[in-house]
Amino acid sequence: MIPFNKPHLTGKETAYIEEAVRSGKISGDGMFTKKCHAFFEQRFAMRKALLTTSCTDALEMTAILANIQPGDEVIVPSYTFVSTANAFVLRGAHIVFADSRTDHPGMDEDSIESLISPRTKAIVVVHYAGVACDMDKINAIAARHNLLVIEDAAQAIDSYYKGKPLGTLGHMSAFSFHETKNIQCGEGGLLAIRDEQFIQRAEIIREKGTNRSAFFRGEVDKYGWVDVGSSFLPSEIVAAFLYAQLENLQTIQERRSNTWSKYAQALKPLEEAGKLKLPFIPDFASNNAHMFYVLTENLTERSELIEHMKAKGSFPVFHYLSLHKSPYYEEKHKGGAMPQSDRYMDTLLRLPLFVDMTNEETARVIDSIVGFFEK
Ligand SMILES: Cc1ncc(COP(=O)(O)O)c(C=O)c1O
Repeated sequence: MIPFNKPHLTGKETAYIEEAVRSGKISGDGMFTKKCHAFFEQRFAMRKALLTTSCTDALEMTAILANIQPGDEVIVPSYTFVSTANAFVLRGAHIVFADSRTDHPGMDEDSIESLISPRTKAIVVVHYAGVACDMDKINAIAARHNLLVIEDAAQAIDSYYKGKPLGTLGHMSAFSFHETKNIQCGEGGLLAIRDEQFIQRAEIIREKGTNRSAFFRGEVDKYGWVDVGSSFLPSEIVAAFLYAQLENLQTIQERRSNTWSKYAQALKPLEEAGKLKLPFIPDFASNNAHMFYVLTENLTERSELIEHMKAKGSFPVFHYLSLHKSPYYEEKHKGGAMPQSDRYMDTLLRLPLFVDMTNEETARVIDSIVGFFEK
């Protein structure tokens, strides 16, 4: 069976973990964490990069930094992962859901302004499949209404908007290094901060509400409890693993891209024949080959395609369930219908895509899809 995902190992992970263990410091913010921070800050021009234990944690930090209070409203796409909304709900926010674009699962930028009220504090954008939202448009809306822009860049490592790295365009952003992502360490994340005013507080929140980071830099002579916070930093063991992945970013991206292009080329005729739809990438966005999905006509067809592909030996998976219809939020949702989000919920199917996928495996997946539509 060809799995949906197979976490890639570059070969250096265990050697770096051993190095971290031998160094005698395996708690957080040691040598490997610093190397990872420097990598992100140099490669993607992030003003401040802080490793976290997950993207969920990084999002929770953004909600604290944004000073979200009970009753504040936060605009979030309905077609996203639970954490995008949950991080703000934990602080008492009310979620105002935005629908997706018709040509892409990302949020419909043109619908945002009508969702803003005097209680709105932030817009959380999700760069679905690593494909950018129209950040100029969103930042202009936010500036007009004095709102914060937070990027959920969980899937968006090494992807760009008009040539600028995703995760550096809003006030702050969150990345995921979960094992399903391009760069992975099992469970891991990153908070990236563009707006200077949040940097000092982010360090404190990440260190249980203490000014320990400033203490270790010799900026204060003792450290203590100065704010709220939690334990958001990963151990050196995780950072060592992650660094081995980062060193191989280019190779990882090339190999994923190769498989992505094979899918796009081979399935294009089916799109031209009106049998299915392939991912749309706007001119302003790059493609980091995080995901290759197809859109079927409807839910029934998608279920049949899944069964067919499984019978032929591969394991495709659908994605999010619209959050405005989730058991937890349905009652609380005060907005209207989200037809596009529901359409992606019913028709989007992600194909197997991983770094070590062989040409033979890619060909088998393609053949099974072509075979299904020839029936
Ligand atoms: C858009 C989005 N946000 C957040 C997350 C949560 O990431 P993590 O598992 O690192 O907490 C995911 C997970 O896949 C995601 O797809």
